[in-house]
Amino acid sequence: MKAAVFYEVNQPLVVEEVELDDPKAGEVMVKIGAAGVCRSDRHFMHGDAPIARPVVLGHEGAGTVEKVGPGVTSVHPGDQVILSFVPACGLCKSCLEGHSNLCDSHAATGPFMYDGTTRLHKGDQAIHHMGKVACFAEYAVVPETGCVPVPSPIPMDKAAMIGCCVPTGVGAVLFSAKVTPGSTVAVVGCGGVGLNVIMGAKLVNAAKIIAVDIRESQLEFAMKFGATHSVNASDRDPVAQVKELTGGKGADYTFEVFGSADTTKAAYDMCGKRGTVTVVGIAPVGAEAAINAVDLVRNEKTLRGTYYGSARSRTDMPTMVDMYQSGKLNLDDLVVRHYSLDQINEAYGDMDKGEVGRGAIVFD
Ligand code: APR
Ligand code: ZN
Ligand code: ZN
Repeated sequence: MKAAVFYEVNQPLVVEEVELDDPKAGEVMVKIGAAGVCRSDRHFMHGDAPIARPVVLGHEGAGTVEKVGPGVTSVHPGDQVILSFVPACGLCKSCLEGHSNLCDSHAATGPFMYDGTTRLHKGDQAIHHMGKVACFAEYAVVPETGCVPVPSPIPMDKAAMIGCCVPTGVGAVLFSAKVTPGSTVAVVGCGGVGLNVIMGAKLVNAAKIIAVDIRESQLEFAMKFGATHSVNASDRDPVAQVKELTGGKGADYTFEVFGSADTTKAAYDMCGKRGTVTVVGIAPVGAEAAINAVDLVRNEKTLRGTYYGSARSRTDMPTMVDMYQSGKLNLDDLVVRHYSLDQINEAYGDMDKGEVGRGAIVFD
């Protein structure tokens, strides 16, 4: 089958033929329908986050079950499924405590299947599976635990979004920050994930939703998803601008959705008394943000990170499908660019250029 393989940092992905083995016990082969173009893959490509190579990237995907390995009972050939880049083993401490987004069994095996081997290879060369998903490929073999059945099918490109940017963004609002109605929210970084934070804030009836970005186009686009105000961080200090929009107080909830020390500090500084700062973006390895230690205490701020929106894939993803179907999540306007697998480097180039909305790789 054809896959986009990541060999070298800062080099284009190589779209080529690779071999994919049949699913083993507890595994599922999925024919990929669509795969989202998310910045997390870009962090690996730029060497800002480490990953074993060669590897097939792509962690925001959905498709149709092609075949199942021995013992698989929860999905069947023909089912539409969303892939979770943190499969929930259901047995570890994190899973049992309700934090399957941090599953210990997955963390221990990373870009390998649970048995420590790969199903992807090129001749004798093993190829790793990003997040046990690896959906920049025509097919993927994934653990059954990372294969979330969709109750009633939706378009593949929308389903793919529910594999990462929707739970990461909407989940950050609902499950981590737990934004309350009537509050003021500021979102730093309004790309695919940030727009989902904005949609989440709208969903819970935040009174003021301030979009912060360095690009005017992103800010205008964010208005479609519920932003009520915008701040262009390339014009003037975004912290001062958010303070002006909040009567000098700062926002009740701020979200960092780019991934850098500077934007983390900005999100912290624009948060008001007793406010909550939620860091969603993944900064380069080793990045450190300077936080005012006295302000943290005197203003009783809360600073926390959230991974995968603190969502539980197997229960929260089907709920998010329902939210899309009932018109509460505007995924139709979110996925605006479609590419073939051969165009994957172009798709990431468009992300670098700051094209609005989410791109998706679509398969026949
Ligand atoms: N201040 C505000 N916004 C910024 C800044 C800045 N200094 N620098 C970049 N941005 C904006 C970009 O213009 C873009 O709109 O941040 C946005 C990032 O969006 P995408 O590139 O679409 O990235 P996305 O896929 O949304 O991921 C965001 O979340 O899950 C993590 O790993 C992911 O760290 C990444 C983050
Ligand atoms: Zn992602
Ligand atoms: Zn687990």
